[in-house]
Amino acid sequence: MENTYLTKKDVIQINEDTFIVTFNEKFKFDEGQFIMIQTPSLTRKPFILGTWKGNIAVSVQIKGKGTNYIVFQGEKFKAHFPLGNKFIPPAGKGIVISSPTCITLANLLHEKYSCDVLIGSKSKINFELPFESVIGNEDFSKKIKTLKTYDWYLVSGSKQMEEFVLSNIESKNVFVSLEEYMGCGIGACKSCAVFTKEGVKHVCTDGPIFRRDIL
Ligand code: FES
Repeated sequence: MENTYLTKKDVIQINEDTFIVTFNEKFKFDEGQFIMIQTPSLTRKPFILGTWKGNIAVSVQIKGKGTNYIVFQGEKFKAHFPLGNKFIPPAGKGIVISSPTCITLANLLHEKYSCDVLIGSKSKINFELPFESVIGNEDFSKKIKTLKTYDWYLVSGSKQMEEFVLSNIESKNVFVSLEEYMGCGIGACKSCAVFTKEGVKHVCTDGPIFRRDIL
C-alpha cells in the first residue's frame, strides 16, 4: 500500500454532478480496489479505482466541500492506495450495471474482460459515452428487465439502484460494490461494518465488492 501524493491530470464532467478525475501518475492496482483521497479538512474519501483514456481515474460525485475540492480546486492530493480486494468475475459474458460514480471501474472491467456496460444516470450525460446508457428511472427499469442472459452481473451505484437491480436479476452470479462511509480504509475504525449472512464484514477489508448471496 502506498501513502503518497497524486496530481490531477484532467476533469471530465459526466452528468450534472459527477466528474471523472484522471491522474498523471501510474501505479499498480487490481480491479475492484479503491483509493482514499485526503481533503483539506483531513477527512479521507474513498473512490473505486478505474481507468479512463489510458489514465488511472476515479469518478467523483459532488456531495460536499471535500468532493468539491477534489473536482474543482485541488491539483495535488495525498492518497492511500490500493485498498480492498481484487474482483475476479466468473467465466463467461458479463455486464457491469453502474451509475456514473463507478464509470471508471466499468471501463477498466470492459477493457480487461470485454464485458458489456450499462450506465444508468439520473440526469443527462454531457458527452458521448463508449457504453450504452439510459437516463432516468423509467428507462433504467425497463432496460434492466431485458438483461436476463448474462453469465455474471456487477452492480455498482446508489443503494436504491442496487436494490432495484438485485430484485430484478435472478442469476446466482450477481456481485455488488458496496458504498459505505469509510474512516480509515484499512480495517481499523470499524465505520464500514455491514451485517451479512456470514456475519459482520467490513467493506474496506472484505470488499468493496461482495457476492449478492451473502448480503
Ligand atoms: S473504513 Fe475503517 S474499518 Fe473500514
